[in-house]
Amino acid sequence: MSRAAGERVSSLLGLWLLLCSWVCPGSTELQAPPDKIAVIGAGIGGTSAAYYLRQKFGKDVKIDLFERGEVGGRLATITLQGQEYEAGGSVIHPLNLHMKRFVKDLGLSTIQSSGGLIGVSNGDTLVFEESSWFIINIIKLIWQYGFQPLRMHMWVEDVLDKFMRIYRYQSHDYAFSSVENLLHSLGGDDFLGMLNRTFLETLQKAGFSKKFLDEMIAPVNRLNYGQSMDVNGFVGAVSLAGADSGLWAVEGGNKLVCSKLLQASKSNLISGSVMYIEEKTRTKQTGNPTRMYEVVYQTGSETRSGFYDIVLVATPLNRKMSNITFLNFDPPIEEFHQYYKQIVATFIKGKLNSTSFSSRALDEFGLSTILTTDNSRLFINSIGIVSPVKENNNPQPSTDGAFVWKTFSPETLTNEQLLKLFLSYEYAVKQQWHAYPYYKPPDKCPPIILHDRLYYLNGIECAASAMEMSAIAAHNAALLAYHRWNGHTDMIDQEDLYEKLKTEL
Ligand SMILES: Cc1cc2nc3c(=O)[nH]c(=O)nc-3n(C[C@H](O)[C@H](O)[C@H](O)COP(=O)(O)OP(=O)(O)OC[C@H]3O[C@@H](n4cnc5c(N)ncnc54)[C@H](O)[C@@H]3O)c2cc1C
Ligand SMILES: *[C@@H]1O[C@H](CO)[C@@H](O)[C@H](O)[C@H]1NC(C)=O
Ligand SMILES: *[C@@H]1O[C@H](CO)[C@@H](O)[C@H](O)[C@H]1NC(C)=O
Ligand SMILES: *[C@@H]1O[C@H](CO)[C@@H](O)[C@H](O)[C@H]1NC(C)=O
Repeated sequence: MSRAAGERVSSLLGLWLLLCSWVCPGSTELQAPPDKIAVIGAGIGGTSAAYYLRQKFGKDVKIDLFERGEVGGRLATITLQGQEYEAGGSVIHPLNLHMKRFVKDLGLSTIQSSGGLIGVSNGDTLVFEESSWFIINIIKLIWQYGFQPLRMHMWVEDVLDKFMRIYRYQSHDYAFSSVENLLHSLGGDDFLGMLNRTFLETLQKAGFSKKFLDEMIAPVNRLNYGQSMDVNGFVGAVSLAGADSGLWAVEGGNKLVCSKLLQASKSNLISGSVMYIEEKTRTKQTGNPTRMYEVVYQTGSETRSGFYDIVLVATPLNRKMSNITFLNFDPPIEEFHQYYKQIVATFIKGKLNSTSFSSRALDEFGLSTILTTDNSRLFINSIGIVSPVKENNNPQPSTDGAFVWKTFSPETLTNEQLLKLFLSYEYAVKQQWHAYPYYKPPDKCPPIILHDRLYYLNGIECAASAMEMSAIAAHNAALLAYHRWNGHTDMIDQEDLYEKLKTEL
């Protein structure tokens, strides 16, 4: 094509674009914003989704947020003798940028998670024990495991480095239509492959020894996901990042992020349990018949419903947890059977029986967190001293030497078990969770787009369940809903984003 012809084509194109912005159907300027959006679930996923939806769709759209329990969901505190403690999601990584941003923008404060000494028990003895001397820890680690801890640190850094690309993509408004596409854009086939292999296989392939994995890595995974090294490699990496230094929490409780996001999003909280969602044709004020979603929910003894242009589901979809039915969809929306693992958190105020972990007496014990190796005889995954959500300093024992401890276990602890762990205790209070997915690679992720304008956030938990993962899924779903509503297909599933954005500042 000659230069002149090329110029004519491009100026024609310009004219067409100009005209198009007035008259073309489906173009940005003409697409009216949605009237009403529903978000189901007011955990960190749902409340951050409402916040991002407000940013994208503007001030006029009405956003309803449905919650059948407490705002916060799996972020919750428990009050014991007038003090509040984190009972669900408790620590946040220093590089969890969405969570960091929320805390800053919403005017909340942080507390550093207290760094007491950690030991690892195999049920008989301590296989590893931290010292309060940094240099001794280094010598101990090298003595026991050579340079594997350092190599492991580098392996996690590498995964984290790629993972951080998501913030750049999202700050440029790019969205992904599936969890697989999102992961692929971050770390290519390597990342996707991590969902297909167990954490054990992944690390053995990378050359780590069985002793190191058994004594250092498996215990961390038992603490963070209550599961063995048979979880997928990606969640394993997230779990290890959760053992980094610099972990923090929100002063007053992590759930405050959710209630503040809800406020800031100016959405309308509806206390009710969503029973089903049905696609129906409605005639709007404009007179045009429109396909809409009817959300039917129960509040008290009443059944009510509302019609929405867009719906975001921000709770795990399965019978035991959300129990939401999709009626009359064509094609039908499949039922999900993601199985969530039960974890019991028990708060015990008492004096630890340190001899059940080591041969030393309590006054010389000195550890404040004990992790466990993968051993079927053990009835707890971990136990550690906790401080209230309002305290920024190290926990102090009561006058008789008792601390407040938190254990995680797969089952409710019996009185007999408690008396093995403690010389005596004042109280033991439990909180039971359907905590996170039961990981069993190859882990296939549920879709994000369930139907035309119906989105699902919690599929991302198949890769890894964490507050930040839900916030990332929420940001993605809000962007995806916005771009699909406005026909901006160029903002969805772009290949090679990393290379494209590298040159941009
Ligand atoms: C014990 C434990 C420890 C954890 N530790 C950490 C940690 O240290 N760091 C970390 O980052 N993550 C941690 N996590 C994971 C983290 O808490 C979750 O990944 C995250 O909170 C999930 O948020 P969500 O909003 O996606 O889901 P949820 O918090 O589960 O929110 C879903 C909400 O939807 C509501 N709902 C469900 N069905 C319906 C319905 N039909 N109608 C109306 N409402 C409905 C529920 O009541 C709930 O409030 C932990 C989790 C547990 C359980
Ligand atoms: C992962 O396994 C699935 C089958 O379960 C396969 O379709 C997919 O190609 C695999 N992905 C990678 C990157 O290995
Ligand atoms: C799920 O909801 C249906 C009604 O919508 C109800 O009959 C059933 O008992 C519920 N199941 C659970 C596990 O809550
Ligand atoms: C402490 O634990 C040890 C080992 O499990 C047990 O033998 C001992 O009886 C316990 N002590 C008390 C006082 O319960």
